[in-house]
Amino acid sequence: MPTRLAIFASGTGSNFVAIADAIANDQLDAQIEVLVVDKINAPVVQRAAERNIPVFHLKYKDFATKELAEAALVTELQKYAVELIALAGFMRIITGTLLATYPNKIINIHPSLLPAFPGRHGIDDALAAQVSQTGVTIHYVDSGIDSGTIIAQQAVTIEPTDTITTLATKIHALEHVLYPATLAKLISHN
Ligand code: GRF
Repeated sequence: MPTRLAIFASGTGSNFVAIADAIANDQLDAQIEVLVVDKINAPVVQRAAERNIPVFHLKYKDFATKELAEAALVTELQKYAVELIALAGFMRIITGTLLATYPNKIINIHPSLLPAFPGRHGIDDALAAQVSQTGVTIHYVDSGIDSGTIIAQQAVTIEPTDTITTLATKIHALEHVLYPATLAKLISHN
């Protein structure tokens, strides 16, 4: 049976597309049951609509606390019997409500070699630090920022001529291979 996935995203959705394509090409034995977004105007919503994948808009501001928002989200995810959650550019911290419901079942992709350069600007921060390499990390999510146990990492060389644009292009190309491949490995081990 294909693993029932939820993807959480806030932005462009290129990783969402990479995962959907890997499924369509039989490289990943999964099904995206639902896309969860915190912004209904995020471009990723269109990517889901094109593929007839349901979208759930979690309106955090409608809830008194983040925990209550996540409780509503858990109810929604349970309707789809979601087994694994992949964050792909989801710009919110996950709290204990979701973590307790899906222990070791929530993973994230980050554009640096963690623990180096966590946070929102992993690509820019690596370039500014003038390190010779950065990369991509896939990790389990915990209550910190990009701090959970690492599942997979791959390096990218930073050339002296690299700009934010060229480095981001290299990082994203690697992400689109590493995320589906890592999900496929995780799923096959279950
Ligand atoms: C990726 O660089 C990912 O590593 C980071 O957010 C970005 C999402 O890009 N967490 P996209 O929306 O998948 O194109």
